[in-house]
Amino acid sequence: MFKLAGVRWGGQASGQEGLNRVMKRRGSMYLEEDTDRSEVFSCIFSVKEEVGALAKTLRLFEEKGINLTHIESRPSRNNKEEYEFFINVDSSCSQALDQVIDGLRTQISGQLHELSRNKQKDTVPWFPNDIQDLDRFANQILSYGSELDSDHPGFTDPVYRSRRKQFADIAYNYRHGQVIPKVEYTEEEKATWGTVFKELKTLYPTHACREHNRVFPLLEKYCGYRQDNIPQLEEISRFLQSCTGFRLRPVAGLLSSRDFLAGLAFRVFHSTQYIRHASKPMYTPEPDICHELLGHVPLFADPSFAQFSQEIGLASLGAPDEFIEKLATVYWFTVEFGLCKQGSEIKAYGAGLLSSFGELQYSLTDKPQLCPFEPEKTSLQKYPITEFQPIYFVAESFEDAKERVRKFAATIPRPFTVRYNAYTQSIEVLDNTQQLRNLAENINSPMKTDGAVQSAPFGGRRQSLMEDARRERAGGSAAPGPCGGPPCGDGGLGSETKDDRVVLNLVVALSHEKSSGFFKTGKIFETFEAKLLHIESRPARKVKNSMLVDLEFFIRCEVHGSDLDVFINSLRRVVDDVRTFPEERVPWFPRKMKDLDRCHLLITKFDPDVDKDHPGFSDPEYRKRRAFLSELAFSYKQGEPLPTVEYTAEEVSTWREVYSTLRSIYPGMACRQFLDALQQLERECGYGEDRIPQLQEVSAFLKEKTGFQLRPAAGLLSARDFLASLAFRVFQCTQYIRHASTPMHSPEPDCCHELLGHVPMLADKEFAEFSQEIGLASLGVSDEDIEKLSTLYWFTLEFGLCKQNGALKAYGAGLLSSYGELVYALSNEPECRPFEPEETCVQPYQDQTYQPVYFVSESFEDAKVKIRKFSAKINRPFSVRYDPFTCTVEVLDQPDKIQNTLRQMKEDLRILHSALEKLA
Ligand SMILES: [Fe+2]
Ligand SMILES: [Fe+2]
Repeated sequence: MFKLAGVRWGGQASGQEGLNRVMKRRGSMYLEEDTDRSEVFSCIFSVKEEVGALAKTLRLFEEKGINLTHIESRPSRNNKEEYEFFINVDSSCSQALDQVIDGLRTQISGQLHELSRNKQKDTVPWFPNDIQDLDRFANQILSYGSELDSDHPGFTDPVYRSRRKQFADIAYNYRHGQVIPKVEYTEEEKATWGTVFKELKTLYPTHACREHNRVFPLLEKYCGYRQDNIPQLEEISRFLQSCTGFRLRPVAGLLSSRDFLAGLAFRVFHSTQYIRHASKPMYTPEPDICHELLGHVPLFADPSFAQFSQEIGLASLGAPDEFIEKLATVYWFTVEFGLCKQGSEIKAYGAGLLSSFGELQYSLTDKPQLCPFEPEKTSLQKYPITEFQPIYFVAESFEDAKERVRKFAATIPRPFTVRYNAYTQSIEVLDNTQQLRNLAENINSPMKTDGAVQSAPFGGRRQSLMEDARRERAGGSAAPGPCGGPPCGDGGLGSETKDDRVVLNLVVALSHEKSSGFFKTGKIFETFEAKLLHIESRPARKVKNSMLVDLEFFIRCEVHGSDLDVFINSLRRVVDDVRTFPEERVPWFPRKMKDLDRCHLLITKFDPDVDKDHPGFSDPEYRKRRAFLSELAFSYKQGEPLPTVEYTAEEVSTWREVYSTLRSIYPGMACRQFLDALQQLERECGYGEDRIPQLQEVSAFLKEKTGFQLRPAAGLLSARDFLASLAFRVFQCTQYIRHASTPMHSPEPDCCHELLGHVPMLADKEFAEFSQEIGLASLGVSDEDIEKLSTLYWFTLEFGLCKQNGALKAYGAGLLSSYGELVYALSNEPECRPFEPEETCVQPYQDQTYQPVYFVSESFEDAKVKIRKFSAKINRPFSVRYDPFTCTVEVLDQPDKIQNTLRQMKEDLRILHSALEKLA
């Protein structure tokens, strides 16, 4: 038997010394880093306690010539039969270490965990910083998916084992951003699924929580959940992304708790794709696709549950091992085996229950012990993994559970606070004051909409709501009611929604002689299938010749357009008074990123087919090429890969001339943010004289920096459509290039203008926020306000100047892509005024010659704040908020939506508070 002579944790002087240093400094053996060296790699692995195991392991290092600078061992905390080794290696051995790690995975039977890799001196265990980093887990699994235990039902079945290998390989090779490979399941596999599906589905209505039951039918409708079909991970992942921003990622085998939980921080769920062995459809010793899809997936479509899960993930990042174990236990008793209160009943929401016919029933009997969910206690509870749980923890609600996990997370010793940035899908480690300032500014932003929220019709101020309705009627702006005015069905009354349904605002008065009127009203709503959007009552005033009226109801509802007249006349028969007033008409605007496919209205006055002054007007070849590239953009659909263009030698030479001319004057004239980003683009995105960069790679670059992405545009877009896309951090970008005869001039935007003028600025965080702010301000506003916003856009994103270190610099793309105007704008000739949206938005501008006046921003921060103030004054009956998880615009016109925003603000405040405490 293998004995650990001399190399126990701290058994050797050097080990003890190292250990003490670590423990004194960090309070944990695993939080290793040798501060004396600039680059040290370390990892922990465990081996079974058997003869020669350590020697075998050490040979791997020897073979690759790796210099071990430190080694310590100790009995494994997780497995009595294993020993753990902690090693440091020299930084020069990076590549060789990769090979050894692979070797360790295949040749030892224990676990492996990399603690730090060379990026910088880690002070805490390594954790993924952005979503791509999760790719590193793919080869960090504890056991490969095809390795089965001897008591696994598929252990002696070679066909099953080779099938498992196929699944494991898919996951092993999967990288973030790829489409999850589709799997053709065999008839036998489908039959296994069918059995599980059928049995469990009978229990859900009575045993599963409300959220599970609400989502399940949607999965049947949109994701192919059927008894005879095993749904595909890719489809489900897309569905979840549209609900909560959660996504699935195939996994080849068991991940360590640390890695698995880290995935949740990014709203990534590592899901198996294989199915249990056909011999035992109602049993599996490990997670399989039945468990994932039936147990886990439905809950991840619920926003509160998604937040709760992410919260556990965020708490785990960089946490010491003992806390990882606690969090894994919390995860076990919630996400896997959680029960929750719903009304007077208790229901299951844990996936381990919802995917186990036996335990789901058992958990809701009086046999097991139930305790309230309290992370401090729950995290210490021991649990069996091969039999039913003797104890379950009951959450009051996901909201409540989330709050508790947050409080618990605050007790984890971490020298920093983390915050997830959903735009860039990365973790922000808040450990300096600038980050805190940014966060504080962000928290401030939803507050800026307060004014608009309160003036919204359903902002929660009950009294004033009625007042608003009354004032509107008194002001004569209301459409006359059905009896005494034009017919209602002409569209003048309600505002149309999809499917010919109209939204209608009513005030209904009831006298006490007709107290049954309210119930009859309800009946009418039912008959007409009117969807009630909002209802409020208040004691009514005397109306109509002092007839006594008890109550007035304000009702907002949606009915079928063709039923409108009959509906209102029916109401009139059962109540005393019905008055209607119109929903404000709001121009259509995109709510989902996919809707941008409809935002491509072109302004054609400058294109070479129409504009006689266009240098390409008399060049049929140029016009043909331009039309071809425009067509590519026209047929583009959101989410598709961006089209790649093979540029001709002539086109590249036009680009070269523009690039080299402008590049030479940028250093003295462009703002700092622009210069920084351009250098990065030159390093990372192939920017240079000899090649026109492709949108695809540029878009990926921006996505990582600020969450901005590009989409091809066919030409100059209408201001409304163009601005709307900015709300989603999508920049519509032309792909054709100006005519070769005039390399230094183009009457319309072209790829030189976009790639050189706009793109570098979009890589700056503050500028990206500023751009999105203008976009959000534009959604659903009147044409007049669009005109103002596009003028603001013009004098900032296109022709803006800013002050840096006392000097004027350019940040507008129209300037940065035009040699002549850039020089002119920074000369003494034009007039420069401070950027003040109120003034700037009415300034007439030139789109064919140089501007007579330029506006100077103090900073992007300052400009952003000013734009917010300006947009809060724009007349819109609602506020909007962008949800970067689901890439959708939320219209804040209902109290619950506003509450969500408040919650988010509260959360940001909490993070700010915690970060401040840690910095102090
Ligand atoms: Fe699970
Ligand atoms: Fe532009």
